[in-house]
Amino acid sequence: MHLPIPNLRAIVAMDPDGTVGSGGRLPWHLPEDLRLFRSLTVGHTVIVGRRTFDSLGGPLPGRSCWLLSRKELPSPFQNSVRPFANLDDLLAAIGEAPTDRQFWVIGGAEIYRQLAPHCTEIIQTALRRRYPGDVRWQIPKNFVRCEILLEAEEFVTYRWRRNGIAEVAANQL
Ligand SMILES: NC(=O)c1ccc[n+]([C@@H]2O[C@H](COP(=O)([O-])OP(=O)(O)OC[C@H]3O[C@@H](n4cnc5c(N)ncnc54)[C@H](OP(=O)(O)O)[C@@H]3O)[C@@H](O)[C@H]2O)c1
Repeated sequence: MHLPIPNLRAIVAMDPDGTVGSGGRLPWHLPEDLRLFRSLTVGHTVIVGRRTFDSLGGPLPGRSCWLLSRKELPSPFQNSVRPFANLDDLLAAIGEAPTDRQFWVIGGAEIYRQLAPHCTEIIQTALRRRYPGDVRWQIPKNFVRCEILLEAEEFVTYRWRRNGIAEVAANQL
């Protein structure tokens, strides 16, 4: 049983088969979804796995970056990224942070697998068509879909809430 962390959320885009990545990158380019991702995460702390961090080329502007990697942090990022070599240290650091600090789990699949069970909410962009890919993930069964945040030609974005967690107003996101 994973205890939910109130200020921890995940954000993901996936196709109908749960495909999230292809060859180390996103399989699609959806500017509207990227704008939503930016508007939700800017000003907050993002938690990212090393392979996704590499594909981004570094920390995202306007967001604090916490990186999970068992390797040494490359020197260009030593002042801008907080590294964690294991999940327990990362969870302890979230626990020590002020409760109004918001954390977003931004992938990839290895990181979603380990941290989604601790999240209270997941923002999921569900693509309408299938894409070729090599990395997949599925939203855990104990989350319930509770709201549509955005509808577009290629996708719908849902807010999922962990079962048993009280409803949070959309304007608190
Ligand atoms: N569709 C989306 O919303 C979305 C979002 C993000 C990423 N993606 C895609 O997902 C793919 C990458 O996902 P992925 O699953 O292959 O990799 P990932 O989750 O981005 O990164 C995995 C790496 O994280 C580190 N790591 C994992 N667990 C750890 C732990 N407990 N302690 C310390 N370090 C840990 C390891 O780094 P080291 O090897 O350095 O030790 C591991 O190799 C890419 O294609 C990317 O574009 C999609």
